[in-house]
Amino acid sequence: MSKLFETIINKDSSFIPIWFMRQAGRYLPEFRSIREKNQNFVDLCFKPDLVKEITLQPIKRFNLDATIIFSDILMVPFGLGQFVEFKKGYGPKLKKFNSDNLLGIEKENFTKKLSPIYDAIKRVKENTKKESLIGFVGAPWTLFVYMMNQESPKKNFDFNKINKDNALNKKLLEKIIESTIWHVEKQIEAGANIIQIFDSWAGLLPEEKLRDYCYEPTKKIVEHIKKFKIPIICFPKGIGKNYENFCSNVKPDCVSIDTDIDPKWMKEKAQGIAIQGGMDPKILLSDKDEIKKNVEKYLKIFSGYPYIFNLGHGVLPETKPETIEYIVKTVRGRR
Ligand code: CP3
Repeated sequence: MSKLFETIINKDSSFIPIWFMRQAGRYLPEFRSIREKNQNFVDLCFKPDLVKEITLQPIKRFNLDATIIFSDILMVPFGLGQFVEFKKGYGPKLKKFNSDNLLGIEKENFTKKLSPIYDAIKRVKENTKKESLIGFVGAPWTLFVYMMNQESPKKNFDFNKINKDNALNKKLLEKIIESTIWHVEKQIEAGANIIQIFDSWAGLLPEEKLRDYCYEPTKKIVEHIKKFKIPIICFPKGIGKNYENFCSNVKPDCVSIDTDIDPKWMKEKAQGIAIQGGMDPKILLSDKDEIKKNVEKYLKIFSGYPYIFNLGHGVLPETKPETIEYIVKTVRGRR
C-alpha cells in the first residue's frame, strides 16, 4: 500500500507523505538540459523514454513519496484536435477550434492520439517501487478557459466573452468532461494509482457560477473515478472560503489547498477529508530559518490529521534543488 493511499483512504496520520507539484521542471538542471535539446514542449510530452526520464529525475534526487507523470493538462485539448503550442517565455498558445469537429471526436481517436502518454506511464510504473504514481487532468472549467481564451487568462480574461452561447458552451463542457474521463481511465489502466484534478483557474469564476462550472463538472469526474477505488485529489485553486462548499459538494478523497487558505480553518471545515499542500512556493526562495519555520507551521497544524506535505502551487523555476532536499529532510525528521 502506498503512503499516499494510507493517508488519503485509511486516514493514517502517523506519517506525513511528501511530494511537490512541478517536482520535475525548470528548477532542475537535468530537466533544463533535456528541454534545451527538445524545444517543442508538446513533442517532448509524446516521447515516452524522455517523459520517463524526466518523471524520475526528482525521485532519483530526493526521498519523495510520489511521482507525477511529466505531461500537461493541455494534452486533452490537443487530443480533441485543438492546436496547442508552448511559446518560450510566454506560455501556452492555442488556436481556434472547429466546434463540430471537436464535438465529433471519438474515444478511439482521442486515446490513440494520446497513447504515448500511456506508454510513458507504463514505463514509469516499471521503474517505481514504493512511490505512488500520480496521473492528472485539468478540471473541465480550467480546460474550458484555455480552450476558449487560447492562452493563459493571466494576461487577459473576460468571463462574459466566453459565456455567450450557452447551448454550445454546455456541449463543449460535456465533451471536455467525457474526454477527461477517457484520459483518466487510460492513465489508470497504464498504472497511475492516484489522480489529481487541477482547477487552476477556479478562482476566476463568479461565486454564483461555481456550481455549474466548477463543482458539478468536477463531481462527474470524481464520481466516475471512485469506481476504480483510486484516491482522487482535487485542487480548486483560488476559491477562498468556497473550499468548504467544494468539499461538501464534490466530496474528493483529498483536497489540495492554495497559499490563500488558512490551514487551521481548512482543517475544521474539511470534514475529515485528507488535506494536501498550502505552503507558499515563494518561501522556498528565502533562507533556511524562514523555510523551517513555515514547514513546521504546517506540520504542527496538521499533526494528528491526514495530511500530505506539498506547496500551495508548483515549485518555482528559481528554486534551488537543495531547498527541496532540505524540506524533505525537515518533514521526515519531524518529532
Ligand atoms: O507537476 C509536475 O511535475 C507534472 C507536470 C505538469 C506540467 N504541467 C508540466 C509543465 C503538470 C501537473 C502540469 C499541470 C498544468 N499545466 C497546470 C495546472 C497546474 C498549475 O500550474 O496551475 C496548468 C495551468 C498547465 C498549463 C501550462 N503548462 C502553463 C500555463 C505553462 C506555462 C507556464 C510555466 O509554468 O512554464 C505550462 C508549461 C509547463 N508544463 C512546464 C512544465 C514543466 C514548463 C515548460 C518549460 O518551459 O520547460
